[in-house]
Amino acid sequence: MDRIRIIGGTPLNGRIRISGAKNAALPLMAACLLSDEDVTLTNLPHLADIMTMTNLLAQHGVKLTLTDQDGGALCFNASHIFNLKAPYDIVRKMRASILVLGPLLSRFGKAKVSLPGGCAIGTRPVDLHLSALEKMGAEIKIKEGYIVAFTETGKLKGAEIVFPKVTVGGTENILMAATLAEGRTVIKNAAREPEITDLAECLIKMGAKIEGLGSDTLIVDGVEHLHSATHKVIADRIEAASYAIAAAITRGRIELTDIPLNLLSAVAHVLIDIGVSITETENGFITDAQNAYLIGTDVMTEPYPGFPTDVQAQLTALLTTVSGASLVTESIFENRFMHVPELARMGANINVHGVSSAIIRGVPRLSGAEVMATDLRASMGLVLAGLAAEGETIVNRVYHLDRGYEHLEDKLSSCGANIERLHGE
Ligand code: UD1
Repeated sequence: MDRIRIIGGTPLNGRIRISGAKNAALPLMAACLLSDEDVTLTNLPHLADIMTMTNLLAQHGVKLTLTDQDGGALCFNASHIFNLKAPYDIVRKMRASILVLGPLLSRFGKAKVSLPGGCAIGTRPVDLHLSALEKMGAEIKIKEGYIVAFTETGKLKGAEIVFPKVTVGGTENILMAATLAEGRTVIKNAAREPEITDLAECLIKMGAKIEGLGSDTLIVDGVEHLHSATHKVIADRIEAASYAIAAAITRGRIELTDIPLNLLSAVAHVLIDIGVSITETENGFITDAQNAYLIGTDVMTEPYPGFPTDVQAQLTALLTTVSGASLVTESIFENRFMHVPELARMGANINVHGVSSAIIRGVPRLSGAEVMATDLRASMGLVLAGLAAEGETIVNRVYHLDRGYEHLEDKLSSCGANIERLHGE
């Protein structure tokens, strides 16, 4: 298995182009199942999760065509779907596979999708997806580890869905399902993540009738048919936040391009609060922590527009290197402090209280160590710690990073990081 080797301690300095967002690309790819015409997505990142979604769609019968040389644009054609089953072997690799359920059920009146099961950052059930689809007239049974869903008439019916808890994937699944349902669907307490607005914008290009974009109430009037469209995947705000933190943790300066700063308001506020300078540019922003004196702060993760849970591990790594104490509270997922014991092995001073809070006291210097993490963002937290630490850090289980960070080593070494991939057998 591959590993990443980092020699830390160099302030990073340079410019990084931000890729298309994985968490926008995955639902957009699932949305291609709603139409029998070509849907072309551009700015797709080269990531393992995108490959997994490609494989899932292909086994349903979706035809894929590369429409540019480097593969950043793909044309999806779902006119000959021959299999409505999403198998366990693919779903277990990537929970976002559940996003094919709404589109398949809505267009074909039935679907069979493996239950995702547990994952490293908590139990992460899909009960809210299922109860909302039931409200739209679907009959759902769990059989031999699969969600077996069908509609008696072959069509879902519009309904009022009030999510008791904000769910990104649940909102996306119901939004897609509602586009081809009979009548009006109102989704209340909808998640407001920019990736959902991106999905809604693409669906509108395909002929869907959706109002309330960016708000917590989405109104969808079902249509008979969705047609061809071309859509550019929104920039990855989590990748951008991670590289902004790379600049901060190494006390360097990085310009990030192709990313609107307003997608990262909550992260920018926290960075500014601890003493980092953030300057907006024409198509991105500059994060500058050269000669800065950084101090601790208190942060709680929340649904958008709050501070993202997907940046919690990276921020925690940064806070281990600043003066004074910080309190980080995780309110979205249980079990999302798995990186803490590994950071402690690098000399960090962190006390986890219960399952949701961590008190971090800054230390003068982290020291390199061999570490591993159990999920994507926690792995990035360790890479960032390694960039700041004295000496050598080896990050194991690089496959987590390959799920979500395109050209990670290239992007960081272009800013002066001493980082390389060690290929395993
Ligand atoms: C998405 C993101 C993930 C991010 C998360 C929260 C993608 C592909 N993944 O995950 O990177 O960390 O949003 O911003 O976009 N829940 C239930 N029942 C459900 C659904 C969710 O209890 O049916 C709970 C979850 O366990 C969690 C919370 O709701 O505690 C939020 O989860 P959700 O927003 O659904 O996350 P994902 O869509 O899985």
